Amino acid sequence: MRRPTSIAPAKGKLGVLTPGMGAVSTTFMAGVELVRSKQSMPVGSLTQLGAIRLGKRTEGRSPLIKDFVPLAGLDDLVFGGWDVFPDTAYEAAKNAGVLSPEHLAKVKKFLSGISPMKAAFDRNYCRNLDGKHIKKAKNKYDLALQIKEDIAEFKKKTKVDRVVVIWCGSTEIFLTPHDVHSTVAKFEQGMKDNDPNIASSMLYAWAAVTSGVPFANGAPNLTVDIPAIQQLAAKHGVPLCGKDFKTGQTLMKTILAPGFKARQLGLSGWFSTNILGNRDGAVLEDPDSFKTKEESKLGVLEYILQPKLYPELYGKMYHKVRINYYPPRGDDKEGWDNIDIFGWLGYPMQIKVDFLCKDSILAAPLVLDLVLFLDLAKRAGLKGIQEWLSFYFKSPMCAPELYPEHDLFIQLMKLKNTLRWLKREDLITHLGEEYYD
Ligand SMILES: NC(=O)c1ccc[n+]([C@@H]2O[C@H](COP(=O)([O-])OP(=O)(O)OC[C@H]3O[C@@H](n4cnc5c(N)ncnc54)[C@H](O)[C@@H]3O)[C@@H](O)[C@H]2O)c1
Repeated sequence: MRRPTSIAPAKGKLGVLTPGMGAVSTTFMAGVELVRSKQSMPVGSLTQLGAIRLGKRTEGRSPLIKDFVPLAGLDDLVFGGWDVFPDTAYEAAKNAGVLSPEHLAKVKKFLSGISPMKAAFDRNYCRNLDGKHIKKAKNKYDLALQIKEDIAEFKKKTKVDRVVVIWCGSTEIFLTPHDVHSTVAKFEQGMKDNDPNIASSMLYAWAAVTSGVPFANGAPNLTVDIPAIQQLAAKHGVPLCGKDFKTGQTLMKTILAPGFKARQLGLSGWFSTNILGNRDGAVLEDPDSFKTKEESKLGVLEYILQPKLYPELYGKMYHKVRINYYPPRGDDKEGWDNIDIFGWLGYPMQIKVDFLCKDSILAAPLVLDLVLFLDLAKRAGLKGIQEWLSFYFKSPMCAPELYPEHDLFIQLMKLKNTLRWLKREDLITHLGEEYYD
């Protein structure tokens, strides 16, 4: 990656389009509106609250990230999206049941003004969903062209200067890379032939990238993890990132597991189970959608603990993840972890984690940060996979010859060093030998 010589200023408005206007998307939109009208705080957002140390510890330079790099301001965000249901963002937020009636009342007018565009949707990729607010076309290529027109129309109507698309749609069935994904020509022919290996989310990705619009994938779907889309991103100068927002249980895992490895504590087993009752939970009841999520959640420990390097400590670990749909809980997920570790001389110990979390409350600030950082990346001329945004994902995308970095603390260091690098500040290695000369 070549270092940009300059970063274009964040002039004008920034459009944010979310395929999927459900719990996460509407909690994000409502939250931005509450924050910019000074009625609430952007807790959980690194771009809004985080600081970054520059130079030596003795220099006392730690500006806020938003004052250090030229990010779009919250007042400049304009929202839109697509969904298979025609509900406005207000109705969808009300259905999702995440926000309190008091918060909803404050943003009712604002959210009621955001209506979804018709979705490119095919039940074959998301079986537990059945909406009627969907596009009609003779083939997938035609659908993708319609999405491209939607983006252009949104830009014209709202007079935004730039757009970012972030997938907040449901989890699709498990797909693996196929020959049709291998080149742009094959992919585009595949869309015309209605190839079953091309899922709806890929049509949005194709439309965004060929419109010069950055794309983030918040679900564990294959979507942009395919050569054809990555080749297009390189050609059109578009940054990409994904996949699957790292929020509840996996966030905890990537906080705890690096600690065990740092202390050389062994792990014999990690059993994780969840109950959740929102629409995401209903979609994940379908075994093929669950498989996509399971793959995304399972990779984490293997990469952090490196059993090949530490066979005595991690070579026999048993890792299991379950998700159960349990309607009474709505968006209030409960995630239990039973962790069997062992210490000095192999003596066993147990750790129990019971995280009573709010899924969309954890995800919304990640959507905001990703939108702002992708827009920054685009203005800085960065293109293709943005590995420095791994911090936000359960299954971070990376170059094909690399393994992904899952350790939350390494991810944060990488993100901050990328910002320092963009601004030609010294990278921070934490060596610190100069303080002791
Ligand atoms: N903490 C979290 O909430 C979290 C964490 C990681 C990943 N995710 C993922 O984020 C996504 C959104 O989660 P959510 O809780 O908002 O789910 P949700 O069910 O409330 O919202 C998803 C919306 O996407 C719509 N949709 C599905 N397919 C579509 C298509 N092809 N085009 C347009 N719209 C489509 C659905 O109708 C639904 O309204 C899910 O894939 C979920 O797995 C969420």
